Amino acid sequence: MEVNYRHLFGVACMAWLVGCTSPSVEMGDLNVIPLPQEVSLHTADEPFIIRSQTTIAYPDGNEKLERTAGFLASSIEEVTGIRPEVRSGAGGKGCISLAVSEEIKEQEGYRLQISSDEVRLLGGSEAGVFHGIQTLFKALPIVKGSDCLAALPAGEVEDFPRFPYRGFMVDVGRHFFPVSYLKQMIDMMALHNINYFHWHLTEDQGWRIEIKKYPKLTEIGSVRDSTIIDRVTREYDGIPHSGFYTQDEAREIVRYAAERFITVIPEIDMPGHMMAALASYPELGCTGGPYRIPCQFGVYPEVLCAGNEQTLQFTKDVISEILEVFPSEYIHIGGDECPKVRWKACPKCQAKIRELGLKDTKEHTKENQLQTYFMGEMEKFINEHGRKVLGWNEILEGGLTDNLTVMSWTGTEGGIEAARQHHPVIMTPIQFLYFSNPHWNKLASINRVKRVYLFEPVPDELTPEEQSYIIGTQACMWTEWTADSLKMEEQILPRMAALSEIQWTLPEKKDFEQFKKRLPALLDKYAERGYDYKKDILDANIPEMPADSLRKKSLAL
Ligand code: ACM
Ligand code: ZN
Repeated sequence: MEVNYRHLFGVACMAWLVGCTSPSVEMGDLNVIPLPQEVSLHTADEPFIIRSQTTIAYPDGNEKLERTAGFLASSIEEVTGIRPEVRSGAGGKGCISLAVSEEIKEQEGYRLQISSDEVRLLGGSEAGVFHGIQTLFKALPIVKGSDCLAALPAGEVEDFPRFPYRGFMVDVGRHFFPVSYLKQMIDMMALHNINYFHWHLTEDQGWRIEIKKYPKLTEIGSVRDSTIIDRVTREYDGIPHSGFYTQDEAREIVRYAAERFITVIPEIDMPGHMMAALASYPELGCTGGPYRIPCQFGVYPEVLCAGNEQTLQFTKDVISEILEVFPSEYIHIGGDECPKVRWKACPKCQAKIRELGLKDTKEHTKENQLQTYFMGEMEKFINEHGRKVLGWNEILEGGLTDNLTVMSWTGTEGGIEAARQHHPVIMTPIQFLYFSNPHWNKLASINRVKRVYLFEPVPDELTPEEQSYIIGTQACMWTEWTADSLKMEEQILPRMAALSEIQWTLPEKKDFEQFKKRLPALLDKYAERGYDYKKDILDANIPEMPADSLRKKSLAL
């Protein structure tokens, strides 16, 4: 059943409109999403009204804040129709002034002071100021095209993030999305105070990033003949699917994101999920192929040969070019869903196992340890270049190498184990935070937005010291069954709003009923920006989650 949120929240809308009669001013609300840590209103004071004379000031010579001031001018224009003049120098009457201040102790924190005369926005860094302008935008009412002026209530906001890592992943391997659309997704992330865009660039079904030393990766590896479009009938569309990003385009995405204080983390998923690379360079596999890029989804036995020196050279060469394009401290090297059947039968892999003296143990098979060796070699290489490695939680299966950060996706158990071993952890459990896998994030009578909202990234069973290794949380958008932006956005929005609150807001402030009351103002902003979002936000009539919820083989099917 479609539920129209305007009916549900009609009372709140009416209250706003009443304020719009005399004088013609519509009041905004500083209780945005994600909810700031502290909002104190000076209810007896007059609000700050956006007028044609309103200006925005930034400190002379600060290019980042100059750009941020420009973003604020555009977003104010988006909702009010008035574009404030941007200038350098001090604030003053009618001005929204931006500055970095040592008074703000949290790097990404900010303070907003609003009076009828002026708005002062201080950040612990330019990133803090940027989060502050998102709050201003979300707090403003949409009055464009009406006789009303927009007002911000007098008061103060003191805000900072709960977690330093607040991520969102997009899989462009299964389906390619153009640069222009990724920029829109980055804007969406910025609106929700997300600071890491995890870009899943390679998959069995498509290699999407130009690697100059291995041109066949994109000539052959980025094109598949057809795509399965129905899980039940196993029908295929018969239409070739292709696309890749040149290194210059990837640099453009990195730049666009950086301007919005978002770091792009590239993922080259290895040694599994490599069918597109194997189809391009069959000598990298255990059997030598031939290989074909799959047109359906799942976990495939064909993986990189870990006993072949040429393969390790290939992955190092690929990562070398990735390091040139992406300045991010983290490089993600996957490590998930790598079956070991080929390695068990491969003379090269078995010779490597003997050479390394690997033996089956109670905890780890020798093939799993071979994966640890392979990932460890990559980790050394990446560390030597001054970067850090991220991997999916299966990297725990052969024992962890020293400096790895673990992304826990099959549940929170991998993250708990890694935190106990004092490795940094990012929680991204499929049961709550995979926006693409409906069967995995449903509970009877709990709607999909609430299911995200309920997730608590820091497990109780860890000691406070172990808990400090949980550096953040992320949602993932896999695209096996998502070929277009309409479906993508309906899967993401408004769940990203719930995500932002588990990433940003302290848990004692969280309250789902109250969140639902704040949501319509954000939905209005989505509509204003032309984002497609799921209107049926209270879709509670969904079946129970399967009891065997961690059975992996059905995950992507
Ligand atoms: C994953 O979902 N295979 C990381
Ligand atoms: Zn092999």
